[in-house]
Amino acid sequence: MTTMKYKRILLKLSGESLMGNKQFGIDNERIAQYAKQIKEVADMGVQVAIVIGGGNIFRGIQAEEGGMDRVHGDYMGMLATVINSMALQSALEKAGMETRLQSAIKMEQICEPFIRRKAVRHLEKGRVVIFGAGTGNPYFTTDTAGTLRAIEIEADVVLKGTRVDGIYTADPEKDKTATKYDVITFDEVYAKGLEVMDMTAFTLCKENKLPIIVFDMNKVGNLKRLIEGEKVGTLVDL
Ligand code: GTP
Repeated sequence: MTTMKYKRILLKLSGESLMGNKQFGIDNERIAQYAKQIKEVADMGVQVAIVIGGGNIFRGIQAEEGGMDRVHGDYMGMLATVINSMALQSALEKAGMETRLQSAIKMEQICEPFIRRKAVRHLEKGRVVIFGAGTGNPYFTTDTAGTLRAIEIEADVVLKGTRVDGIYTADPEKDKTATKYDVITFDEVYAKGLEVMDMTAFTLCKENKLPIIVFDMNKVGNLKRLIEGEKVGTLVDL
């Protein structure tokens, strides 16, 4: 029997990762590959909730630099996450999973509104639940949305899928001498000024004793290995 370290997970994916090698938008191959990996763990009986960013389509902060009102830009970013969520939902269903999409901003014709109890019920029934539109508020990132939803649904862990394979002593893309942590505490991350998530999201995890694992989602099989308890990426814990 396969062991399962985590029973309920919140998987946080970046919007940019959906681009694959493209400059913009959604790469079908990449999204299908994510769906396959998610199915592997869902088939093990893991309850999977997902939050995805929108950076491949629209970024609120950059819009502000271009002169747009920040709040306006943030709402556009939230809509971008709904587009990505719908694309992911479609890919997951194509791969044979049951899914439900809930949005923090009501758009009844497209998806369900976010209702915590309903989300938990869906998870219990084995449906993959995607949470769209971030927290529904400007000035919050999708990392914060992921963390908040993870706490609300009482997930065991937040899995932050990125293109680097964990947390390093320095930016590995700039500093070749940087080394990776297997495990690090929340306090060490603060003390060393390392970037894991924005501070709102990170503090929310710490205060609610919610561990974070940063890992490379683009390496096929990583998600499953992680669930089976293998050391993949970096674990941030108390
Ligand atoms: P259970 O009753 O717990 O089995 O959940 P369920 O999701 O199957 O029941 P429900 O009748 O709520 O939903 C049936 C379908 O309608 C699902 O595909 C939902 O995602 C969808 N649905 C439910 N509420 C809404 C909504 O407000 N808007 C949209 N667009 N779809 C919805």
